[in-house]
Amino acid sequence: MDHFELRGGVLHAEDVPLTKIAEEVGTPVYVYSRATLIRHARVFRDALSGVNKPHIAFAVKSNPNLAVLKVLQQEGYGADVVSGGELVRALAADMAPQDIVFSGVGKTHDELLQGLRANIGQFNIESEEEGYELASIAARYGMTARCALRVNPDVDARTHEKISTGKAENKFGVPIDRAAEIYANLADQDGMDMRGIAVHIGSQLSTLEPLETAFVKVGKLVQELRDAGQKVTHVDLGGGLGVPYKAGEIMPSPAEYGAMVARVTKDWDVALSFEPGRVIAGNAGILLTRVIRVKRSSNASPFIVVDAAMNDLARPAMYGAWHDIEAVAPKGGKMNAHVVGPICETGDTFAMNRDLDVLESGDLAIFRTAGAYGATMASSYNSRGFVAEVLVDGDKFAVVADRLPAADIMAAERVPDWL
Ligand code: LLP
Repeated sequence: MDHFELRGGVLHAEDVPLTKIAEEVGTPVYVYSRATLIRHARVFRDALSGVNKPHIAFAVKSNPNLAVLKVLQQEGYGADVVSGGELVRALAADMAPQDIVFSGVGKTHDELLQGLRANIGQFNIESEEEGYELASIAARYGMTARCALRVNPDVDARTHEKISTGKAENKFGVPIDRAAEIYANLADQDGMDMRGIAVHIGSQLSTLEPLETAFVKVGKLVQELRDAGQKVTHVDLGGGLGVPYKAGEIMPSPAEYGAMVARVTKDWDVALSFEPGRVIAGNAGILLTRVIRVKRSSNASPFIVVDAAMNDLARPAMYGAWHDIEAVAPKGGKMNAHVVGPICETGDTFAMNRDLDVLESGDLAIFRTAGAYGATMASSYNSRGFVAEVLVDGDKFAVVADRLPAADIMAAERVPDWL
C-alpha cells in the first residue's frame, strides 16, 4: 500500500497535490512519501516477527538519498553499502557503524580500509582474494574485520538476467561447494573474524521457491562448517523480494517471505540479517513528469513526449521494465499511445502501445514504483541535468536533492591550455 492517491480528481502524495510540487519544483522530479517508507519498513520488520532479533540493513543502492536514509535510520534500519560513497552516506544519515554491512564484488583497498576505520559491523567477502587482502590490511593496522563469506548457491532466481546474482556463472560470491575450504583458510588469518555466511541471489524475485532453495543450501553449509569446528554466529540472507509494478500484479508478501525464513532457519541458532531495498523504497516513490507535446505523424498511436527521459529513469531502457503511467489530473477518457522521452535514441521509450489516461501537451503524469533504482541510476546523458528529489510528509514537502543543472556539470570540466 502506498500514499499516492487521487483526491478530488488530482493525484496527491499524502496530503500534497502533485500539481503543487510541479509548480514549485518543476519537472521531472522524484517524489517520495515518508509515510509509505515508514509503512513498508514496519511491514517488513513485522513480517520477521518469527525470527529472533533480525538485523535489517536497507540496500542503499536502491535509494541513497540522505533524507530517505534518515527516515529508515529513524525506523531502526542499518545499511547495506557497496561502495565508499554509500558508506559515507549511511554514516551521514547517522546509521550506527555496527549496523552497516559492506557488500560488493570489487571493494578497493581504500574502501576496505575505509570500512575498517569506520568500524563497520560486517564485511561480506565475495572472494578468497578479497578476504586475504582485507586480512592483511586489518592486521597491518592492528584491527579486526568482522566478516561473512558470500556464497554463490547456483540457484536460478527466475528474474531478469541482468539482476540475477546467484547462478554459478554470475560474478558474485564463492561457489558454495568451495565455501567450507575458503572459510577455513580465511578464518586462519590474523585480522579476520569469520563469523558467518551471506547470500543474495537476485532482485525483483516474484516467487519464494528459489530463495528457499538457496537458504536450505546455506543451512547445510552452516552445519558443515560447525562440524568442521568453525564458528558461525551470523547469516545474512540478502534482499530481493519483488514488488508489483503493474496494478493488480501479485508478488509474495513480506509476511509470506518472513514465514518461509522462520521455517527454514528455525534450527540455525544464528543472528539473521536482511538487505531489503526495492520492497521498502519501490512503491514509496514516483517520478513526476510533464508532457512536452503529443506527436501525431501517422494514423498509428501517437507519441507522448514527456520531459523525463532514460537518463532520469533508466529501468525501462535497461531492463525493458514496466512502470504504470497515470495522469495527475485524469480527464476521464483513455487513449492508446507510446510514451517516450526527449533523448536521441529509440531506447528512450517508457511504453509502447499502452492504454493510458488521455494526455495532452502540458499535462502532468507520473511513473509509479520509481522510489527504488530510480534517481540513483540517473545520468546526465544528452547534457540533461540531474533530476530533483522531493520528500513529502503529510501536508508538507521538502526538496531533498536539488536539480543539478547541466551547466553545473559542465563547470566540473576543463579544456587544457594546450588545446
Ligand atoms: N543485497 C545485495 C548484495 C544486492 O546486490 C542487492 C541488489 C540488494 C541486497 C537489494 O536487493 P532488492 O531488495 O532491492 O531486490 N537496478 C536493478 C536492481 C539491481 C539490484 C542490485 N542488487 C533494477 O532497477 O531492477
